[in-house]
Amino acid sequence: MTEPRRHDVVIIGGGPGGYAAALYGAAAGLDVGMVEKDKVGGTCLHRGCIPAKELLETASVYRHVMGAKEFGVQVEGTELDFGVAMARKATIVDGLFKGLQGLLKGRKVTTYAGTGALGAGRTVSVRGGESGDVELSGDSVILASGSVPRTIPGFDIDGTVVVTSDELLAIEALPASAVVIGGGAIGCEFASMMADLGTKVTVLEALPRILPGVDADITQVVQRSFKKRGIDVRTGVDVTGHDPAGDGQGTTVAFGDGESVRVDLVVVSVGRRPLSEHLGLEGTGVTLDERGFVVVDEHCRTGEDAVWAIGDLIATPQLAHVGFAEGIGAIRGILGEDAVPVDYDRVPWCIYCHPEVAFSGHSEASATEAGFDVVVAKHRFVGNGRALIVGEPDGMVKVIAERDGDGRAGRILGVHMVGPWVTEQLGQGYLAVNWEATVDEVAHYLQPHPSISEVFGETVMALTGRGLHG
Ligand code: NAI
Repeated sequence: MTEPRRHDVVIIGGGPGGYAAALYGAAAGLDVGMVEKDKVGGTCLHRGCIPAKELLETASVYRHVMGAKEFGVQVEGTELDFGVAMARKATIVDGLFKGLQGLLKGRKVTTYAGTGALGAGRTVSVRGGESGDVELSGDSVILASGSVPRTIPGFDIDGTVVVTSDELLAIEALPASAVVIGGGAIGCEFASMMADLGTKVTVLEALPRILPGVDADITQVVQRSFKKRGIDVRTGVDVTGHDPAGDGQGTTVAFGDGESVRVDLVVVSVGRRPLSEHLGLEGTGVTLDERGFVVVDEHCRTGEDAVWAIGDLIATPQLAHVGFAEGIGAIRGILGEDAVPVDYDRVPWCIYCHPEVAFSGHSEASATEAGFDVVVAKHRFVGNGRALIVGEPDGMVKVIAERDGDGRAGRILGVHMVGPWVTEQLGQGYLAVNWEATVDEVAHYLQPHPSISEVFGETVMALTGRGLHG
């Protein structure tokens, strides 16, 4: 048997977690080998964040054109050419894919095409891809094999009538009607995109409200907007099964107390599960929990010496940027540097439905539950000049602060936003929460005028007891 090819670090999985670790490690001078069974870029680039946000942008352009009259711009015969939208999506994904391949090559990361499995002594076998059968060994190994959509019993994914995000993002034409099962981040983004592009959408969510975990005031704004745009949101309902009409002619979905809805497409978005079943792991100290996530400590170290696990494979928020941070942290650990663990309770969350949602830190409910005495301020975009100018007055900023001994608002615990471009505005809220800044400190800073971000500044000023606009 030939000697395994040795690398300083072997990474299994080339998604955001894996490629961030590879690029960061290679930039620090490490010899990195990365195993990928499909395409580098992973779910985020090929079947997730990037294509989904691109289609949401098509929806946004369509919405703007449909509302152009309000701005005095007359547009006749607006039509959606979904083929062009999909081609644009493919061009963007492809450009980023090529860019990533170039970066990896430029940093001399060796990429192996195949499925990687970890064995004893930090050996990794690569099988089933263009690289053929290869044996690798790493002084350190990072497991980053990601996740796949969860499914539910009775809803077999056939790619035509019942789909997950994987198939929806490659669909050729939008359906006239759709049921979205699960009103989480993916469900709300797809519901919003399809409804804006003309699909009649019903969202079926098992819990009492959509976007569980998001501050209730924020969810309410999304729910109201969805309703206004004709999305039928049904919460607290069990989905009991469906009865396909056959020949790809749609299906009837049964839910709740004997209710049903006939649709062309069912989108299952009930969460994602870790893709850990092909990882081997025999003869290693790496363990999985009952849901299949690799068990790690706060530094993403597994039970096996010098083996790390990051990204959707571990039970931390399933966000690309969390994967990036964990990948960087693992490399810093490998380099023997001090790595500050990710503060999972305060990572930035961005949901790109319309209206957009962005937040960091405690919601009002979770802060109270955690025992904080809180002071809360909310400001709506409807009073903001720039929001009115761009025609997006729906939404609010909500800031939650800890009440100090003198009764005044002190440390900022959470910043929550819903409305225009909030995914691009969260930065300063995220910084405030993670810096553990106080409202007095943040209120000191100027916001450009007129800008949508003034609403954040105004909300913080209100917490000092001296807001300008109410
Ligand atoms: P999720 O966990 O965010 O939401 C799933 C939803 O489905 C939950 O509201 C849950 O109560 C509901 N549900 C579960 N089983 C159900 C059933 N049988 N019937 C009806 N409802 C049911 O998962 P999602 O939206 O699939 O996203 C997967 C992961 O990807 C999440 O961790 C999410 O945060 C992340 N993601 C984040 C995005 C963002 O931040 N923009 C975008 C897309 C995904």
